[in-house]
Amino acid sequence: MLYSRIAGTGSYLPATVVTNSDLEKRVDTSDEWIRTRTGIRERHFAAEGELSSDLAMQACRRALQAAGRDVSEVDLIVVATTTPDMIFPGVACILQAKLGVTRGAAFDVQAVCSGFVYALSIADMFVRSGQSRCALVVGTEVYSGILDWNDRSTCVLFGDGAGAVVLLPSQEPGILATRLHTDGRYTDILAVPARVCGGNIAGKPFVTMEGQAVFKFAVKVLTEVAAEVLERAGLPLEQVDWFIPHQANVRIIEATARKLGLPMERVVVTVDRHANTSAASVPLALDEAVRDGRIRAGQHVLLEAVGGGFTWGACLIKWG
Ligand code: ACO
Repeated sequence: MLYSRIAGTGSYLPATVVTNSDLEKRVDTSDEWIRTRTGIRERHFAAEGELSSDLAMQACRRALQAAGRDVSEVDLIVVATTTPDMIFPGVACILQAKLGVTRGAAFDVQAVCSGFVYALSIADMFVRSGQSRCALVVGTEVYSGILDWNDRSTCVLFGDGAGAVVLLPSQEPGILATRLHTDGRYTDILAVPARVCGGNIAGKPFVTMEGQAVFKFAVKVLTEVAAEVLERAGLPLEQVDWFIPHQANVRIIEATARKLGLPMERVVVTVDRHANTSAASVPLALDEAVRDGRIRAGQHVLLEAVGGGFTWGACLIKWG
């Protein structure tokens, strides 16, 4: 039986760091309000003209280096993003060219903040079926371009960044189980409700959100899907060494961990420094915990995300 395993991780954060105090100069807010409601202290913003494919390229190079693989070996690129460089081609195609990959498939997945978990689940199936022998799975976002600076309840929450993993075939299970869900009835509570029409933007091209409804929904489904994926893998919760949830808000993370019965010492938190980087948040946090030595061979890692759609999902991994 063929499985897939993560052989290397990489990430990239744009150089510009924007603190809560910096935001105080731009909108009617305070460091205290942002920290106590969300846990966020700062975020990174891309430079003018720095696009999702640029961030992704840096993250992919680092992931390939960590995996000891060359770009010539890559035969699949799956990019999760909500902030593509352009309407088409997809970021994966642009990234393929920037990396110098010349074979295999490359496509985007649009599942907002759950995008990376979706992309990883899809790539896992490609690898397990023998269709890919070296896959790049990426989450990359430039949210700074879709923030409404007249809406203080959303513009303080997001940041830019990218994370990537290299997925290889393996005789031993790396990815143990995955679960994905969607409920399209919740489209209205979190959206960028705009489209391009006749050369103009129709609608509002900024993040809109009903914060409290999103909060409750996120905690509920993150708790449920954890139980589902663990049951599918036949693994008790006590054997989860690291929980890496989507980094939207530390209060969502804490409430989910509490409901699951997982101590915060086993939870990876980056939202304080990255803010919400949507599809990039989980691979950014994963890369940090791998590189600082927290995640070690043989440990079980639970990745989870929830986002607009609504979409949500989980991937349970045995690190190897
Ligand atoms: N600075 C100062 N005051 C603010 C700000 C701000 N940035 N934003 C809102 N306020 C004010 C409001 O105007 C309101 O004032 P009022 O009482 O005078 O009317 C007050 O703060 C309370 O506003 P609420 O919206 O009720 O605040 P709440 O406690 O719900 O916190 C928050 C808002 C942080 C967004 C919260 O609802 C939340 O965490 N929701 C989860 C959503 C989330 O994290 N989304 C990320 C994207 S979704 C995802 O990734 C899954």
